[in-house]
Amino acid sequence: MKKIKVMSVFGTRPEAIKMAPLVKALENDGRFESIVCATAQHREMLDSVLEIFDIKPQYDLNIMAHGQTIVDISNKVLKGVDDVIKKAEPHIVLVHGDTSTTLNGALAAFYNKVPVGHVEAGLRSYDMYSPFPEEVNRKLTGAITNLHFAPTKTNENNLLSEGVNKEKIYVTGNTVIDALLSVINENHIFEDETLNDIDFENKKVILLTTHRRENWGEPMENIFKAMIELIEGNEDVEIIFPMHKNPAIRELAHKYFDKYIGRVHLIEPLEYVEFTNLMAKVYLIMTDSGGIQEEAPALGKPVMVLRTETERPEAVEAGTVKLAGIEKEAIVNIANELIKNKDAYKAMAQATNPYGDGKACGRILEIIEENFRLERGQR
Ligand code: UD1
Ligand code: UDP
Repeated sequence: MKKIKVMSVFGTRPEAIKMAPLVKALENDGRFESIVCATAQHREMLDSVLEIFDIKPQYDLNIMAHGQTIVDISNKVLKGVDDVIKKAEPHIVLVHGDTSTTLNGALAAFYNKVPVGHVEAGLRSYDMYSPFPEEVNRKLTGAITNLHFAPTKTNENNLLSEGVNKEKIYVTGNTVIDALLSVINENHIFEDETLNDIDFENKKVILLTTHRRENWGEPMENIFKAMIELIEGNEDVEIIFPMHKNPAIRELAHKYFDKYIGRVHLIEPLEYVEFTNLMAKVYLIMTDSGGIQEEAPALGKPVMVLRTETERPEAVEAGTVKLAGIEKEAIVNIANELIKNKDAYKAMAQATNPYGDGKACGRILEIIEENFRLERGQR
């Protein structure tokens, strides 16, 4: 029988991580021909993931430029993916999540009348400016999607409340858990010597990441000031901050933390296997990342989310994630409670897994096949 040509489009680190197990599943399944179109909205951070999962994109648009704007990315992705679709002629295009690559990859497919499968569909914060521009990217992508792969029931309900056809929504779990389970190893030894030298037993090590556009400027300064107050007030606290590649974030981090080297470890973004195994070892995670909010609960690590909202309420409800906001006082107070009060810490350090059982990719493949055959009247 004819193979189904599935083209996966992605370009940033989190999309690559969450699409990687799906691409591998497609490659290993004789029913499909897998085509990868990497936009390379990110370069080094994307390449690191491609290498870990041994994915060699058939198409690489190589669009990243330093100081790129959302419009720059959008223009290049729309035109680049359009060209690739015309050449590769896929039966379906898969996009992931909420980036500029996601929306413009989906739009290019729609303009070519190629069906779109949206992986990680239906997350909503209901604030169009936070996360910015991701909330709107995700919503607009949903409007031109044929198959919605929703990680949770909550995500499905969001789509239903917007009038999406129930028959085209599938609750699959999040592929982030498929990826995570493939890389976590209790005996992991870090390649990065700085990490091997850290005393995880006797120190309270906080892992910090921050990159969101809406946190640029004052909110990020508040976050950094809070971190300094935590170090000055707690002798046993150390901070590891793998700095996102965005120069705006790196400059600010150096300005605040260079004086505290030794207590604050400013390091390059870690490759995925190193990062996830580091999450499993630290005391506490503080982040504005989306993906980390999904991974940490599965590892039983308390997470303070450095944002005013989250489109991922499931782990907040389960108790592993706290919305800490972006004000210095609140961040310091919540963190101090977790540092000093064992019961408060234990109550949050529970492994919960609202985001899936690690089998999302298998489900997505079955759904693609079923819909493809149905459309062609082969069943
Ligand atoms: C993008 C996504 C965001 C996602 C985030 C994940 C949009 C609008 N934003 O934000 O949704 O959460 O990725 O990390 O789609 N850079 C490098 N090397 C890299 C990656 C980035 O040097 O490998 C630098 C470049 O100077 C680039 C800048 O970071 O111009 C910003 O990258 P960009 O993709 O525009 O925004 P992010 O903040 O990474
Ligand atoms: N991550 C990584 N190295 C790092 C920081 C994060 O591999 O130094 C991984 C993390 O495990 C998660 C993903 O990157 O899977 C999150 O990406 P990011 O925070 O850039 O984007 P978001 O999830 O907020 O869109």
